[in-house]
Amino acid sequence: MSFKVPFGDVKLRYESLRKQLDETVQRVLPSGYYILGPELERFEKRFADFLGADYTVGCASGTEAIYLALKACGVGRDDEVVVVAHTAVPTISAISMTGAEPVFVDIDPSTYVMDVTKVAAALTPATRAIVPVHIYGQVVDLDPLFELGKQRGIPVIEDVAQATGATYKGRIAGTMGDFGAFSFYPSKNLGAFGDGGAVCTNSEEGYRNLLMLRNYGQSKRYYHDTIGINSRLDELQAAILDVQLPYVAEWNARRREIARRFTAGLKDVVITPTESSFGTHVYHLYVIQTDNRDGLQQYLLDREIQTLIHYPVPAHLQKAYAYRGYSRGSLPVTEQVTERILSLPMFPELTNDQVDLVIDEVRRYLTVNPQHVLNPTLPIASTLAK
Ligand SMILES: Cc1ncc(COP(=O)(O)O)c(C=O)c1O
Repeated sequence: MSFKVPFGDVKLRYESLRKQLDETVQRVLPSGYYILGPELERFEKRFADFLGADYTVGCASGTEAIYLALKACGVGRDDEVVVVAHTAVPTISAISMTGAEPVFVDIDPSTYVMDVTKVAAALTPATRAIVPVHIYGQVVDLDPLFELGKQRGIPVIEDVAQATGATYKGRIAGTMGDFGAFSFYPSKNLGAFGDGGAVCTNSEEGYRNLLMLRNYGQSKRYYHDTIGINSRLDELQAAILDVQLPYVAEWNARRREIARRFTAGLKDVVITPTESSFGTHVYHLYVIQTDNRDGLQQYLLDREIQTLIHYPVPAHLQKAYAYRGYSRGSLPVTEQVTERILSLPMFPELTNDQVDLVIDEVRRYLTVNPQHVLNPTLPIASTLAK
């Protein structure tokens, strides 16, 4: 199906950088280096510089970036990892891959990120890591987590999959925790033309560990000091990411501009995103809340406007995690938000006309259905018990 306003369109990114990308592919393919070569080395250095961190290590996906970071912290079987259920399930898959168990905490009702006031009560003697997820492009309030982590000797691993370039108190997300895990899934704020990921760290020991873990646990060829996997960012994707890296700041600025336009046009009829005071939101996703979300989504679809829900089922209520014993009601804010959220189209190449069309159609729907207009001075989610 073609849309007047698609949810995303990565082909437009290819078209805007076509010449550079085509030249890059033509340089790398005849080079004979496809894995762990100079393109990856260059990208890892430049990505670390972009972040203002000491090291980054490319890997095969965001999921494996989280997995590798957890392994580098020594997380394994029967350990516990404190995390939110309001995330892409791969955050949780990565925890499961280590043999550890996720322990879920609720989210803040206005910013949708981890409610850091809930973390201390979730810690047990088995807790080996805390994974704050910078969902939608907005950073979790990290300082209280670092404080808690320091007191209890528990590492903090930032899931930055949706927040490349976001900031917290002037520093770039992913550089402040013990490790930061990035995804280069094509639609991300910095996306490959295939799968990819990276782990960021300022620890030399952590860096050396990651280099082994992503490459079968080898310290040198055929010498395996630890049990690792194959999780490498290939030369072609690294080179393609390197071409795009200089544009990330500009693309994030455009995402913020689109967000401002949406918010100005919609704030009196739906709940628009709340930006926290301590950071820069980079709007991987622009998420509104409304009390007839499914009706609005269908109305927009009928008018060729594509929207998505991030995410319709929180991790603690997924069939795969039923064995953990969480039931409906265990995470009330997460569960209520899940019923009401809708992600509007968001990508840097969206035109202002497309944004305005989305605004007009949302408003038209709410004119026909005035009972669903929310009074933004009374955001329903923030009236939930904390
Ligand atoms: C918050 C979050 N964490 C982890 C991941 C996993 O990243 P990937 O798809 O690159 O494995 C994603 C992306 O889907 C994500 O949005």
